[in-house]
Amino acid sequence: MIHIRNLRKSYGDNHVLHGIDLDVRPGEFLVMLGLSGAGKSTLLRCINGLNRPDGGTLEVGGMDLMQRHSRRELSRQVAMVFQHHNLVPRLSVRKNVLTGRLGQVGTLASVLQFFRQGDLALAEQCLERVGLAHKAGARTEALSGGQMQRVGIARALAQQPQVILADEPVASLDPKTARSVLQYLREATREMGIAVVCNLHQVEYAREFGDRIVGLAQGRMVFDGKPADLDDTALDAIYHHAPPGAGLAAANAARSTLLPGSWLPVSVATPVGGA
Ligand SMILES: Nc1ncnc2c1ncn2[C@@H]1O[C@H](COP(=O)(O)OP(=O)(O)OP(=O)(O)O)[C@@H](O)[C@H]1O
Ligand SMILES: [Mg+2]
Repeated sequence: MIHIRNLRKSYGDNHVLHGIDLDVRPGEFLVMLGLSGAGKSTLLRCINGLNRPDGGTLEVGGMDLMQRHSRRELSRQVAMVFQHHNLVPRLSVRKNVLTGRLGQVGTLASVLQFFRQGDLALAEQCLERVGLAHKAGARTEALSGGQMQRVGIARALAQQPQVILADEPVASLDPKTARSVLQYLREATREMGIAVVCNLHQVEYAREFGDRIVGLAQGRMVFDGKPADLDDTALDAIYHHAPPGAGLAAANAARSTLLPGSWLPVSVATPVGGA
C-alpha cells in the first residue's frame, strides 16, 4: 500500500529526513512517535504529495509519488485528517463530508458542488461509520470538537482512499474524546482496508491503538515494532538517545538478525555517517 525506500528530504541545509524505509499494509494502523521536529509531519507531507522528496522511492497504492501528479489523482489515493479538522464551519456536516468527493467528480460538477446520488449515499454511510448519521443536516459549527474530528474522518473516508494520514488528530481533545475518535478511525479504516499513518505525541494512545509503532528521531527511524515491544529502551531511543549517524541502513542490517517486528535499540546500530 505504502512503499518507501531511502526517502530523503531537506529544507535548505536543514536535513530533515535521512533515508526512511517504510512499508504499510492495507488495513494497518501505524502510529508514528517522535519528538517535536523529528520529521513526522514532513514525512506525512511527502506521502500526501505536498512535499517533494529529494531522493529515494515513494509509492502509494502503486502510484509513484516521485513523479508529479495532479491533486485530483492524489486525492484518490491519500486522504488527510488534520489536528484542527479543517472543516467549513458554516456548512452542514453532510456538505463537509461531500467535499471529500470533490476530487472524484468532474471540474464543473465540483465548481457547482453538484454531487451524484451515489455520493450522497456514500456521505451518509461515512457519517454512520463515525456515529454521526443523525447530525448530517446540522451546521458543523454547532458540533463539539470531538464530533468535528469525526466529521473530518468521515470526509477522509468519503474520498475512498487507499491511505489516510492523520497528523496529531487528537491533540486538541480531552482523553475520553480522543480515545473515542481514535477508536472510530481505527475501526472504520480496518473494516475498509485503508492503511493509516497517524502521528501522535501520546505514547499511551500509540500502545492502545497502534497495530504497529514506528519511532522517528532526528529524521531517522529508530524503532519499528509492535506496541508490546515499546519498552523503556525503545522509548529512550525515540525520545532521548538519537545520535546523528545511526542510519537506517545499519538499523535494517541489524534488524534482519532480529525477529520480524522486534525493536531495535539505536545503540546496537553501527553509525553510517550523517546526511
Ligand atoms: N515548510 C518548511 N520549511 C522549512 N523548514 C521546515 C518546514 N516544515 C518543517 N520544517 C523543519 O523540518 C523539521 C521537522 O519538522 P516537522 O514539522 O516535520 O516535525 P514534527 O516531527 O512533525 O514535529 P511536531 O511534533 O512538533 O509536529 C523542523 O526542523 C522544522 O523546522
Ligand atoms: Mg508535526
